[in-house]
Amino acid sequence: MHILTANSQGRRAGLIGPDVGPNIARLHPRPDEVPVASSVPLIDIRNLTVSFGGARILRGIDLAVDAGESIGVIGGSGSGKSITWLAAMGLLPKTAQIGGSVLLRGSEILGASRSTLERLRGGTVGIVFQDAAAALNPVRSVGWQIAEVLRLHRGMTGQPAQEEAKRLLDQVGIPEARRRLSSYPFELSGGQNQRVMIAMALAARPAILIADEPTTGLDVTIQAQILDLLRALRRDMGMALVMISHDLGVVADVCERTYVMDAGVVVEEISIRDLHRSAKHSYTKRLVAAAPAWNTGRNPADHAPSPDRVSVKATVENAA
Ligand SMILES: Nc1ncnc2c1ncn2[C@@H]1O[C@H](COP(=O)(O)OP(=O)(O)OP(=O)(O)O)[C@@H](O)[C@H]1O
Ligand SMILES: [Mg+2]
Repeated sequence: MHILTANSQGRRAGLIGPDVGPNIARLHPRPDEVPVASSVPLIDIRNLTVSFGGARILRGIDLAVDAGESIGVIGGSGSGKSITWLAAMGLLPKTAQIGGSVLLRGSEILGASRSTLERLRGGTVGIVFQDAAAALNPVRSVGWQIAEVLRLHRGMTGQPAQEEAKRLLDQVGIPEARRRLSSYPFELSGGQNQRVMIAMALAARPAILIADEPTTGLDVTIQAQILDLLRALRRDMGMALVMISHDLGVVADVCERTYVMDAGVVVEEISIRDLHRSAKHSYTKRLVAAAPAWNTGRNPADHAPSPDRVSVKATVENAA
């Protein structure tokens, strides 16, 4: 299982070399131990660059998320949405050259040690990747996989871990949670596996959940349920949320503001309620124009679930 305890590719290559990490770590307190100061963003990405070989993929990303805030990252396929967060979380292969800064609660994590990054991922930062079936371990029951996160990040074992795993499955709306603990991913539907991934990401009580296309490939009813779930979890846990999507409707549904990316740069940062009247970049305007059913003026964090919300489906592709 690699979504939470990812051990791979933890060491960045490139502009900030391996020996810089320990210096950074000494200069700052451990990122997961520093209390949130109101003036310090939870995550502050500054001038983040990524290249593979000679190819510049990210060309200086600036992006910040406050504690408890819900932001979107929207853009076309290949615009760099996933790479931004993979780079920030130390999940890119060694062939990537990475520059810039990623501050978690004011502490630099770009170049942090592998063990620090592993503790953060699945701890302070929960990550849900797009393809649940691929990210889950096919030969372990979902109960085992959730318990593993509880063991690694909360030191829980035995019966208490089983009870907590059951509670988490309940929390993400999986019916007959106790029985499902012994199910394998192939015995669950796509939507259920997506919920299991969210349960695993929540198991360590993260301060922020990064959800990369969490509803892509799911039918609209299930998609609406997952979005309602994320909204409710945010409300109940005070968790920050980063929703990565190519679908403006999805982002508008759960986020307060969004970054719009195109070709490795952030072309616009805008609040959801201002999208209609204040979008400046032509790319953003095209996105908004492709969402005729757009419902402006609401607070996406507060509004009640309604099935027709998911009918607002504007993709970059159909905006272009
Ligand atoms: N390991 C890699 N080596 C070289 N290039 C890569 C690698 N991983 C990603 N890229 C390139 O980086 C660019 C950005 O990719 P990224 O996955 O961030 O796109 P995205 O915005 O998430 O797109 P999508 O909506 O399709 O998920 C793409 O052009 C991709 O081909
Ligand atoms: Mg992506």
